[in-house]
Amino acid sequence: MNRDVAIVGVGMTKFGEHWKKGLKELITEAGVKAVEDAGISGKDIQLIVGGSMSSGMFVGQEHTGALFTDYLGLSPVPAIRTEAACASSSVALTTGTMAVQSGRYDCVVVGGVEKMTDVYGNLATTALAGAMDRDNEAHFGLTFPGVYALMAQRHMHQYGTTREQIAMVAVKNHENAMHNPNAQFHRKICVESVLKSALVSDPLRLLDCSPIADGAAALILVPAEHAKKYTDTPIYIRASSQASDTLSLYMRPDITTVGATISAVQNAYKQSGLKPEDIHFAEVHDCFTINEIIASEDLGFCKKGEGGRLVQSGETAIGGKIPINPSGGLKAKGHPVGATGAAQAVEIVEQLRGEAGGRQVKGAENGLAHNVGGSGSTVVVHMLSRNRK
Ligand code: COA
Repeated sequence: MNRDVAIVGVGMTKFGEHWKKGLKELITEAGVKAVEDAGISGKDIQLIVGGSMSSGMFVGQEHTGALFTDYLGLSPVPAIRTEAACASSSVALTTGTMAVQSGRYDCVVVGGVEKMTDVYGNLATTALAGAMDRDNEAHFGLTFPGVYALMAQRHMHQYGTTREQIAMVAVKNHENAMHNPNAQFHRKICVESVLKSALVSDPLRLLDCSPIADGAAALILVPAEHAKKYTDTPIYIRASSQASDTLSLYMRPDITTVGATISAVQNAYKQSGLKPEDIHFAEVHDCFTINEIIASEDLGFCKKGEGGRLVQSGETAIGGKIPINPSGGLKAKGHPVGATGAAQAVEIVEQLRGEAGGRQVKGAENGLAHNVGGSGSTVVVHMLSRNRK
C-alpha cells in the first residue's frame, strides 16, 4: 500500500527564550494547537513521532517520546523520537508520512521541540557540535559557525559572492519576520549593521547566525482520502525525501555545494512530478546566511554560483519570483534545532491555506521545505501542495 498523505492540522509556539516553559509545556502548547486546528480528539491519535536533537545535554531529559505521550495525555499511544541534529523533526515528518502511507496508521501527530536557552552559550555550542564528526572536527575546536564560515570563504573565492550579498539574506529574513508573530526577532536590520556586528567566525558575524532558541511545532497527518472529513483546505505531501552525506566537511569533494540537498531534492522532484519553476516559495535552512545562498543553488532555483546574485536581485523576497524564507527563516524566526523542520512545514501549510497575514506569498500552490542536519550530513526535503496531484 502507498497512500497519499495530507496535513489537516498545525500548531507551533512562539520561538525565542521561554523562561517559564520547559519541554513539556512547549510540546503541549504546539500539540494542543495542532489537535484543535484539525478538530480531532485525543482518541483519534494512533502514533506520535517527535524530533529532538539534544534534550539530554540542553535540559537533562531523554526519552522524549514517552514525555510527549504522557504530557499530551495520550498514553498508551506509541511514540517514536527521531534524532538527526537540526533535521530531527523533518525526519519525524518523513517517518510519520511513511506510517500513514503504509496503511498502518490513520492519524499521526508529528513534531519537534528543543529548549536551548537553559544552558550557557559555550555548552550550547558543545551540544550542537555533537552533530559534526567529534573525532575529526569538534575535537580540534571546529564549531558550526566555523564550518559554515569555511563554506562561505570558499564560495566567495570560487564564485565571487560578496560579503554584502551574504548579508542581504539576513536583511531579507529579518524583514519577513516582522510579519510573523511567532518569530524570535522583530527587528529590521540593514547590510551595514550585519557588516558591523561582532565577528563570530570570519567572514560570518553575529547577524549572519541563527540564534539559540526554545520552541516546538506539531502537525496532524491523515490519509488523503480522509482529509476532507477534517478540513476544507487539506495540504498534501507531494514529496518526502531524505538523503545523507559524509559527517565531516573535509571529506567532501566540493564544500560550496551540499550533495545531500541535491540528492534529496532530485528525488523529491521525481516523487512530486514538480519542477523548480513549479515551486512558488521555499523555507530553506539558513542556519547561517551563506547556507541560504548555497541551498538556493542546490535546490535548482538558480545556477551554481549565482545564489548571491539571486538574493541581490530581490527575487527571493516576498513578491519576487521565488520567495525564500517568508517566515523569517532560521535566522530571524529562530532555530530551536529539534523543532525547526516541523516549523518549516507549519509555515508552508499556513501559506498554502492563505493564512500567513502580512508575509503571505500570493497565489502560492506549492511550497518546498529544506532542512539540514549538521553541515549537510542529513538533508530532508518536503514538497507540500494545495493539490493532491
Ligand atoms: N541574531 C541576531 N541577534 C542575536 C543573535 C543572532 N543570531 N544571537 C544573539 N543575538 C542578540 C541577543 O538578542 C542579544 O541582544 P541584546 O543585547 O539586545 O539582548 C545580543 O545579541 C547578545 O546575545 P547573546 O545571547 O549574549 O549572544 P551570544 O554571543 O552568546 O551568541 C551566537 C551569539 C551567534 C554565538 C549564538 O547565537 C550562536 O551560537 N548561534 C549559532 C547557533 C547554531 O550553531 N545553531 C546550529 C546551526 S547548524
